[in-house]
Amino acid sequence: MNATPLLEIRNLSYAAEQLINLQLETKKQEIINNLNFSIFEGEFVGLVGPNGSGKTTISKLLTRIIEPTGGEILLNGINYEQIEPQWKLHHEISLVFQNVDSQFIAPNFVEDLSLYLANFGWSKEKIKSRMMKIVNELGIESIIKQSFKTLSGGQKQLLAIAEALVLEPKILILDEPTAQLDPENSQLVYKLMRELQEKRKVTILLITHKLAELALTKRVLILNQGQITNKIETNDLLLNPSLLKENQMPIPITVDIINRLADLINDPISLQDSSLATFIKTVEELYVNR
Ligand SMILES: Nc1ncnc2c1ncn2[C@@H]1O[C@H](COP(=O)(O)OP(=O)(O)O)[C@@H](O)[C@H]1O
Ligand SMILES: [Mg+2]
Repeated sequence: MNATPLLEIRNLSYAAEQLINLQLETKKQEIINNLNFSIFEGEFVGLVGPNGSGKTTISKLLTRIIEPTGGEILLNGINYEQIEPQWKLHHEISLVFQNVDSQFIAPNFVEDLSLYLANFGWSKEKIKSRMMKIVNELGIESIIKQSFKTLSGGQKQLLAIAEALVLEPKILILDEPTAQLDPENSQLVYKLMRELQEKRKVTILLITHKLAELALTKRVLILNQGQITNKIETNDLLLNPSLLKENQMPIPITVDIINRLADLINDPISLQDSSLATFIKTVEELYVNR
């Protein structure tokens, strides 16, 4: 593994004016508070935490949609502020928004993607060939000319992922990517994430509340009130019901079954076994979509 992290976050803070009453008085509120973490090339990292803990804010800081009020972010050892012009960052790191509607400007995918890529000065031919490549890979041809207004949440989510992947970024951040999807489309996204990770070696930061998504990751950052309270192997988190509950995650169905079984036969079963952890992870990934 390369010794320089692909992403290094140092003392990162973000404060914003927040409304405190109906007299429209505001005060500065620390939303992200002195974060430190690194992500290495090829890693698949989860980011979990209760609603309002600052996960989406981190995704915006990492893609420079908003600027930090303290600390710094380094990409391959280079400070974000030194990456000029700013659009160069788009070739390295890309975000799929939690609310995909705010990602699109044009009325449909073909127009939206063309506008986006034209920003980089690409020729029509280059835009078309890159568009067709991603469209074929994701099997989304039937919906690319339809108005976003007529598409389902799931269909829009797939298009948003396609758009985020079009520049073939090294790092992909996904903010609750299957929250609005039915099980079938969710499986499609899981498969895509696995492929991106395994075949293309894309580094992924996945913000999630779902066990099936968490099970794809190797390790997890837990965020509470703008601070990282835990850096933990995914297997260890899946085996820790109280830590899962504290962070608004469900308990793996296998852990629940094992505990019930242990009660029934009146014999405690240890959850500390590593092959058991792998089993629990596999079940969540393959059979459960919660
Ligand atoms: N631009 C902003 N101005 C004021 N408050 C904000 C802004 N962006 C986010 N917040 C607040 O910051 C906190 C974290 O929000 P967010 O990052 O969306 O959390 P999460 O994605 O973990 O649910 C929330 O309390 C939210 O209301
Ligand atoms: Mg969020």
